[in-house]
Amino acid sequence: MTELTFPPSFSWGTATAAYQIEGARHEGGRRDSIWDTFAHTPGAVVNGDTGDVTCDHYHRMPSDVALMASLGLDTYRFSVSWARVCPDGRTPNPEGLDFYDRLVDELVGRGIRPWLTLYHWDLPQALQDRGGWTNRDTASAFAEYAGTVLERLGDRVPVWTTLNEPWCSSFLSYAAGEHAPGHTSPTEAVDAAHHLLLGHGLAVQRIRADRPDVTVGITTNHTVAEPADPSNPADVDAARRIDGAFNRVFLDPLFRGEYPADVLEDMAEAGLGRAARDGDFAVISSPIDVLGVNYYNGAAVAGAVPGDESPLVFAGPGELPRRSPYVGSERVRFVPRGLPVTAMGWEVQPEGLTRLLVRLQEEYTGPAGVRLHVTENGAAYDDVPDAAGFVDDTHTRRAYVRDHLAAVHAAIEAGAAVDGYMVWSMLDNFEWAWGLAKRFGIVRVDFDTLQRTPKASALWYAEVARSGSVTL
Ligand code: NOJ
Repeated sequence: MTELTFPPSFSWGTATAAYQIEGARHEGGRRDSIWDTFAHTPGAVVNGDTGDVTCDHYHRMPSDVALMASLGLDTYRFSVSWARVCPDGRTPNPEGLDFYDRLVDELVGRGIRPWLTLYHWDLPQALQDRGGWTNRDTASAFAEYAGTVLERLGDRVPVWTTLNEPWCSSFLSYAAGEHAPGHTSPTEAVDAAHHLLLGHGLAVQRIRADRPDVTVGITTNHTVAEPADPSNPADVDAARRIDGAFNRVFLDPLFRGEYPADVLEDMAEAGLGRAARDGDFAVISSPIDVLGVNYYNGAAVAGAVPGDESPLVFAGPGELPRRSPYVGSERVRFVPRGLPVTAMGWEVQPEGLTRLLVRLQEEYTGPAGVRLHVTENGAAYDDVPDAAGFVDDTHTRRAYVRDHLAAVHAAIEAGAAVDGYMVWSMLDNFEWAWGLAKRFGIVRVDFDTLQRTPKASALWYAEVARSGSVTL
């Protein structure tokens, strides 16, 4: 047995997002977001599930926070629903803010650090009606909304994340059509990506100006792609493209103030960069304090098979027609390589997380003096509850989290400045296009009774947090 001890200051948390857990669709003045519209579109979400009720966290918040406290976790990352706080996208709704005010008080009262994400994909529908993220005005609306939330909660929330996974809010939403608003235009996607980055930069500046004392950052998702056959130049190029289209297209503007030259070339047809105006990159690369890292899986990729004109479909269990991610005009294929997969069909590759963190440290965050924090990592499995609702996920989710924590430990040993880790997710919840069908929680939610039951992974994680160490 090996015991891996984390630094004493290492933080242990869990994460959620507003649309995935809150429910209460039209309560307290909340109006629809793009996810309400999308989820209510026939065929968009598996089983026709919606976030109308999901975990009903809006009504059960105090007991959910009590549950977190009973697990001894020190940090909770949640997101604010823009459509609750500014139902038309711009006008503040005090009743919407009240909910987060109560949540933050509850957390602080129980000794849990609130970590707030401003945008976890639920754009007010009113803003989508004016073009959503393809409209440059959405970036300034976002900074105003950031100011509104900051004014109410800035005295008690020490860490602020602007965007969660901008790749999903742009490429997956405007090009792949898998997420709201479900569009399939690469040009809309590259414009959206630019305006998301701009919105991030404007919000950072706003937060800094109003409250210089808080920690500010962004959370990006990363795909660690490897060529299926490293001796095949087409596969090596496919890995470069994926790295460009998922990782560098955001990291380079944030840390270097420019789009990478090769990605500009790959995405020239869609028009990457055409939305940029003078001065944008100075705003986008405004200094941040922390980069949130979301990591779930590795991927082996290959170049297109010559002559293959079949629809672009990538790995997944097949319930959803999954289109290939947009990587420019050339195709790439995701190639299964026999590793274990989760219920999402995502391959389990903890070692990729070590490489990712070390690379981020060396190439991006280290030189900028920015800290790293794993803001999401976790897994969906087909849980089987016993009669009491208890899930023994010892050999699935718990093993996944343990192996990824070992990967984080290895990254720290190799010099990555990683301050903490958050399991995705605290609760089983609405997994976007997969609805309630995929369970990521360390706490089971019975979606009929809404009863919460900690799984074996939650009890184990509580012990890890208490001891600050992981036993392999
Ligand atoms: C990342 C997203 O931020 C989160 O909302 C989602 O549920 C997880 N990935 C799992 O897919």
